[in-house]
Amino acid sequence: MRVFATTSERGLNHELLPMRLYHKAKRLGIWDPKELDFTKDREDWKTFTPSEQDWILKICSLFQAGEEAVTRDLLPLIRVAASEGRLEEEMYLTTFLFEEAKHVESFRRFFDEVAEYRGDLAGYHKENYRKIFYEYLPQAMERLIHDPSPEAQAEASVTYNMIVEGVLAETGYYAFYNALAKQGKMPGLIKLVDYLKRDESRHIGYGTYLLSRLIAEHDTVWKTINKRMGELLPYAIGVINELLGDEKPYPFGLEPDDFVQYASKQFQIRMDVLERAKGRPVDEIYGISEQEVGVLS
Ligand SMILES: [Fe+2]
Ligand SMILES: [Fe+2]
Repeated sequence: MRVFATTSERGLNHELLPMRLYHKAKRLGIWDPKELDFTKDREDWKTFTPSEQDWILKICSLFQAGEEAVTRDLLPLIRVAASEGRLEEEMYLTTFLFEEAKHVESFRRFFDEVAEYRGDLAGYHKENYRKIFYEYLPQAMERLIHDPSPEAQAEASVTYNMIVEGVLAETGYYAFYNALAKQGKMPGLIKLVDYLKRDESRHIGYGTYLLSRLIAEHDTVWKTINKRMGELLPYAIGVINELLGDEKPYPFGLEPDDFVQYASKQFQIRMDVLERAKGRPVDEIYGISEQEVGVLS
């Protein structure tokens, strides 16, 4: 017979990290993409050289398709949480998907209202980007529909939360700040990046929690995680190089080495946090602090 958590003795566990993230998301995840002010961005846009405009179109097109991909591909993971009766995780994931939808909306506003670009942007998606967003990510997420095993969950979360959100998106914000924020350009777009960074810190925090829980619960999962991280890192570095392009000098004085280093550092931070879950009691993972998984306030 069906048992409802909230009409049984179980109730809701507000101490679980996903539940704390849920409460945080209700406060911090409610900004409205329609309220982003792009007035100065439209003026700044006209002052950029064609190659600067091209680079901004490129980075925004990588983000745009990336946000659409994570919106479209998240459902199977939510379904796994629901079918395992992890109500608190499912509740948190409703905010997660809502936020990704808003990220999609926000970047499209940039193309429609600032760049006024209606053409096809998929040409900016090069080999490494396509590997991750056109193949690895959807395949790993779709696998969960038929195979909700701990290994499949780990592979999905590494691809989605650690590589796409944890390494690529984080390095992308760094690029926006270095290229535009430092010169006081495109304040609407930078405000969006501030919001993204905060939302994504909860998403990555959830992924870190999920992977830590899987590591603590199943001895075999660490091997899967380690293998997948290693498999995807070269593609992630490839995407960073594709973002910078071959044209020298690089737009806005950006330096590829600096970015590859930053991405590698992000990768190492994720690995270090996950390592700590090995042999840790599951109860301790449930109560892991927001600070330990890098959630921003
Ligand atoms: Fe996002
Ligand atoms: Fe996200």
